[in-house]
Amino acid sequence: MNPWPYPRWIAHRGAGKLAPENTLAAFRLGASLGYRAFECDVKLSADGVAFLLHDATLERTTTGQGLAGEQLWSDLSRLDAGSWHGPTYAGEPIASLDAVARFVLGNGYHLNLELKPTPGTDHATGVAVGQACLRLWPAGAVPPLFSSFQPEALQGALASAPAIPRALLRDELSASCFDTARGLGCVAMVLNHRLASRALIEQIHAAGLRALVFTVNDEPTAQRLQADGIDGLITDAVDRFTPMLG
Ligand code: G3P
Ligand code: MG
Repeated sequence: MNPWPYPRWIAHRGAGKLAPENTLAAFRLGASLGYRAFECDVKLSADGVAFLLHDATLERTTTGQGLAGEQLWSDLSRLDAGSWHGPTYAGEPIASLDAVARFVLGNGYHLNLELKPTPGTDHATGVAVGQACLRLWPAGAVPPLFSSFQPEALQGALASAPAIPRALLRDELSASCFDTARGLGCVAMVLNHRLASRALIEQIHAAGLRALVFTVNDEPTAQRLQADGIDGLITDAVDRFTPMLG
């Protein structure tokens, strides 16, 4: 296995649930709690701008309505993505990938960029996000780690930015997932933590891949996974786990 530049602890959606997910406010809160690596969800606007949003639709986490991927960035960028969480964050905008890159690079942090395409745009999202990251991350900086549940999105990223590492996300295991990861040139698997037995972690390592898990929020599970050799833990519990202590 190649050297692994990413911190073990990764704040899910920026700061778990303590701040509005996938906004820069969340990243700042996660960083204030000691996190140096962040997972977030990226998709494309109708005019091809990469931005952070978990859901395909805007209703749950913004003041907008409808499919986010059908709207222009000039409209999306005017929405409030904070007030659903509470008045503290009223007016917080949707984060563009450009803004997240500036924050991450300006502080020497690391990013796990989950490609979360609007349905029907898997390949195009991977291609465009790959191109955007090549533009945003200077040569020599640690690039983001791409991950996706959608192999087609990783295929797109492989086509446009082959040097940016990729990880296959899996909620369930299938007989073919190692072949899929190999075919996409992945460096890691990111698994639902319920799947991650010691035997499976060893199998992943034996295949030359790193093993990461989401979303680990309790101490016994975190301890067991670390004893079993896990390489990365994505967590919502950013106020419970102190990453600087390992
Ligand atoms: O990337 C790990 C995790 O974020 C995957 O699930 O639904 O929270 O994006 P979800
Ligand atoms: Mg995610």
